[in-house]
Amino acid sequence: MSIQYFSDTHIFKLDTERTSYGIGVTEDGYVGHLYYGPRVRRLSAREGLRLHEAPPPAELGREKLAFLASFPFEYPTGGAGDFRESCLDVISEQGKPGCELFYRDYRIMDGKPGLPGLPAAFGTEREVQTLELDLEDPVLGLLVTLRYSVFAAEDVIVRSVLVRNGGTQRLRLGRVLSASMDMDNRGFSALGMFGAWGRECHKESISLHHGRQVISSERGVSSPQAHPFIGLTTPGTDEEKGEIYAMNFIYSGGFLAEAELSMFDQLRVVMGIQPRGFLWRLAPGETFAAPEAVLTYSAEGTGRMTRNLHRFYREHLIRSPWKNRTRPILINHWEGTFFDYDSSRLIRIAAAARECGAEMFVMDDGWFGARDSDNAGLGDWFVNEEKLAGGICVLAESIRALGMKFGIWVEPEMVNPDSELFRAHPDWAIQLDGREPSRSRNQLVLDITRREVRDAVMEPILNVLHEAEADYVKWDMNRYLSDLGSAALDEESQGELLHRYVLGMYEMQERLLAEFPELLFENCSSGGARFDPGMLYYSPQIWSSDDTDAIERLRIQEGLSMLYPMTCMGAHVSEVPNDQVGRVTPLETRANVAMAGSFGYELDITRTPEEEKELMRAQVGRYHRYHPLYERGEYYRLRSWSEAEPFDCWMVALPDGSEALITYVQVLGRPNVGGRKIYPRGLDPEAEYRIALVSGEGGEQREPVRSGDELMRAGLLMPPLRDFESRVLHLVRSWEDRI
Ligand code: GLA
Repeated sequence: MSIQYFSDTHIFKLDTERTSYGIGVTEDGYVGHLYYGPRVRRLSAREGLRLHEAPPPAELGREKLAFLASFPFEYPTGGAGDFRESCLDVISEQGKPGCELFYRDYRIMDGKPGLPGLPAAFGTEREVQTLELDLEDPVLGLLVTLRYSVFAAEDVIVRSVLVRNGGTQRLRLGRVLSASMDMDNRGFSALGMFGAWGRECHKESISLHHGRQVISSERGVSSPQAHPFIGLTTPGTDEEKGEIYAMNFIYSGGFLAEAELSMFDQLRVVMGIQPRGFLWRLAPGETFAAPEAVLTYSAEGTGRMTRNLHRFYREHLIRSPWKNRTRPILINHWEGTFFDYDSSRLIRIAAAARECGAEMFVMDDGWFGARDSDNAGLGDWFVNEEKLAGGICVLAESIRALGMKFGIWVEPEMVNPDSELFRAHPDWAIQLDGREPSRSRNQLVLDITRREVRDAVMEPILNVLHEAEADYVKWDMNRYLSDLGSAALDEESQGELLHRYVLGMYEMQERLLAEFPELLFENCSSGGARFDPGMLYYSPQIWSSDDTDAIERLRIQEGLSMLYPMTCMGAHVSEVPNDQVGRVTPLETRANVAMAGSFGYELDITRTPEEEKELMRAQVGRYHRYHPLYERGEYYRLRSWSEAEPFDCWMVALPDGSEALITYVQVLGRPNVGGRKIYPRGLDPEAEYRIALVSGEGGEQREPVRSGDELMRAGLLMPPLRDFESRVLHLVRSWEDRI
């Protein structure tokens, strides 16, 4: 039993393998947070609710504000006098704000319900148990169900909230967040992931001060600026030791993650849909569903959090049939040609890539309408036959004749003003009356809250994909949302646009997958601007960044792989000097870094010299031999360039410790220094390991057989390398016949 209710103390106890979570209910029905942390045998003390310090209104009505200021709410509401961040703001029919929730009932069930129209974690009745707590605001007739799904094996609890108008008033919701946690401060810092285009998902620790510290996106997408994740770490937490409380949001629009330190040194952490710009009408009988937030706790540093989340996403969020399959090695021509191509150039690139071992050709932007640059054509989803002579089938057949799969790029949510679609339907773009909408990349955002708009783009796109019998789709989204007006929503519903947009996009992706159940699907948004757990529900991989420089990728991939399984990260080898930073890195290092993710090449391979093609053939061989370790292995971060080391080092090890792969990248070489020790993890301490250098130079392994405990404790010496050089080591338990 993962979930228990103790009626004598009115306490709910949720247990995973290593953690416990406690909720207590007061006499007058306030629902409070009691505990989250290492697993405990019993939770019986209600003192965590602090009722003796600030008595509840039933006991001391004259000081209700004092009670509201310190009660550790499980789901705080705004208006009654808890001045900390609220999760639920409700406005009555008379326009007055205020809501208070009181406990009514509970249900415990095996399994986990989904969420209509939203991505949702899943599991069998043996893998997950769900607690639903029904709360009510009796004045408004508002019913709020707090849902907790406990994934015991992964140490994960998934929270979401359903808000139902059970009264007679037409209510408006000013905000509905998905999760909140009130806890005592223990010198916590907040861990977040920040960045920008080309520098996505860089980890950053923020020390907390009194007041509110916000990690958020107001851009209509989860964004590269901030990631829908917040971790609270105790002092000294690193990869292997210390505590972290983590929240990650299964949603692909604007979000709010916030840590607020109150005047009583209590910490409130909240996560949910970005309240700015959100105003949702809730008529009698209607229900609003808030997306899911993923919670995990680790007492063994951030490494355990990472492995909890990786297992959880692999097993319980990613649906694709591809999630456990080795993905075909992809060649994308984008960085090699940009818009300058026709089918014969594409076929030449595909053929040259096939010779090197690539298995799938992806045709990127530029194949449709008048799309010769990013100034025109978006929205016109018919094949440009001047570029693709004879149509899409001819190209697709030529690619297949090479023995390759065929993939296509699309950007369904957008329109260029210079397009037939926009000229026919100017009101289909999101815009404000009387104002010229702000352009970005010369494009506007389609109002996909409207069914007719969704149909108008999906139908021609699906036709092309059917004609081409596409094996793969890259779904792009290349700007943020601004000028938030919809011609289809009435004046009272304009505040619903941002969330309805996300729901519309999810519906479009669901439709694509329903028509192509075997599709290998990759999401993308100006690089990694919509890399979030919501998208993983639809696509097993997401393009991580338009920055393909191997050194820049170290930080991006470190941040992403702290949360998501390695195969979720689209990662390609591109040409040097790198298009973004002009850096010249060795081809081997570019491949060793890209191989940590969903691997491919992104270049005009017809320009590649023969000796580099030889290297590529060897890389393809390595991919097939070793990439399954990334697919099935557990990930360990050994050292980090982002923490001022001159090198970066990570490894994957099969869960039984039988095999492991270590990648070491020297960022900057230094003269006259000795080698560096790294300390592998996840090995079998009892076993002997044979060690082979599978990529890179830098000295022979003089002792090719070492014991697991010696390797993990005494370390492994990596010789000094030169700028941007790298090594990959393969470790295999000596009795396995696999080296
Ligand atoms: C975005 C993507 C790129 C490429 C271009 C095409 O920038 O991130 O990979 O597909 O669009 O316009």
